Amino acid sequence: MTLHEDHAVSIGSTDGAGPMVPVIHRVVAATADLDDTTTLTVRPVDNALPRPQPGQFNMLWLPGIGEVPISLAGLDGDDLVHTIRNVGAVTDALCSLQVGDFLGVRGPFGAGWNLARARGRDVLVVAGGLGIVPLGPLVDELISDRANFGQVSVVIGNRSPDTLLYPERVKSWAESLEVEVTVDVASPDWTGHVGVVTELLTAVNTDPANQIAFVCGPEVMMRFAAEAVIDRGTPAENVLVSLERNMHCAIGHCGRCQLGPMFICKDGPVLPWSRVDPVLKARSR
Ligand SMILES: Cc1cc2nc3c(=O)[nH]c(=O)nc-3n(C[C@H](O)[C@H](O)[C@H](O)COP(=O)(O)OP(=O)(O)OC[C@H]3O[C@@H](n4cnc5c(N)ncnc54)[C@H](O)[C@@H]3O)c2cc1C
Ligand code: FES
Repeated sequence: MTLHEDHAVSIGSTDGAGPMVPVIHRVVAATADLDDTTTLTVRPVDNALPRPQPGQFNMLWLPGIGEVPISLAGLDGDDLVHTIRNVGAVTDALCSLQVGDFLGVRGPFGAGWNLARARGRDVLVVAGGLGIVPLGPLVDELISDRANFGQVSVVIGNRSPDTLLYPERVKSWAESLEVEVTVDVASPDWTGHVGVVTELLTAVNTDPANQIAFVCGPEVMMRFAAEAVIDRGTPAENVLVSLERNMHCAIGHCGRCQLGPMFICKDGPVLPWSRVDPVLKARSR
């Protein structure tokens, strides 16, 4: 089934439609970042959804194919920016969308990064691979509100130099923040760090005792990064991670995303390591 503009009327709009009703958006830009990763900019056909916060996510829907949670990658006025990696049926179809195509969007959902908590402190941002997507709008906000934070350091770990997302954006971050990038496997022209992201955490200039750390990446990377940051003196409640779980309703009703006592769609996806660590440890016993 193809989605048309008319569905905006028959499926719903933001006016009292409720959080389970997708709002029709049109693709206004589609950029292939990497072979398997595409950034879509989507514009509401009718009323805009509430403005998402960094760290929150939307459910992107293609009728007859499915619906998946995708983080906010950026905002451009009322346009939503989402970066999507093609890993299966729904993300494949989303990555194939062209300018002018339609999709359903509902959201925003979940708890974001809550940057207000970091005001007046140092900030450490640790991104692994696709983890740079939900952290991107957070770094943009840190830069636009720079005077309200102490030392800000961004550490990015990636498989290889040619698979780094947003290279130009990362370069611009480095003009006002300490930015370190490391790769697992270097190319011949790579002059930067080689190794895992945790190796860079001892080199950054933030004060561990007075920092909030925002960490996103594969779960195993978040564990190593969180433990390294805590070992340096940051309390576990000041280390925030973003968890991924399969989702269905995104509003805390269906239980699909349950992790211990938490619903990741509602209590998360951003959670303090002090809440996440005991639950992950109990699950792996
Ligand atoms: C809060 C949240 C934010 C996300 N943000 C982004 C984003 O910004 N960009 C992006 O590309 N992806 C993001 N994801 C992951 C994305 O939702 C999954 O890749 C997508 O649901 C896969 O659907 P599919 O039908 O294409 O593939 P499927 O065939 O359903 O799955 C393909 C593979 O991915 C695994 N998988 C499926 N869903 C998830 C999931 N939710 N978490 C972890 N692994 C999963 C499956 O186990 C399988 O191995 C996010 C997930 C969550 C929960
Ligand atoms: S996705 Fe339904 S409870 Fe979280």
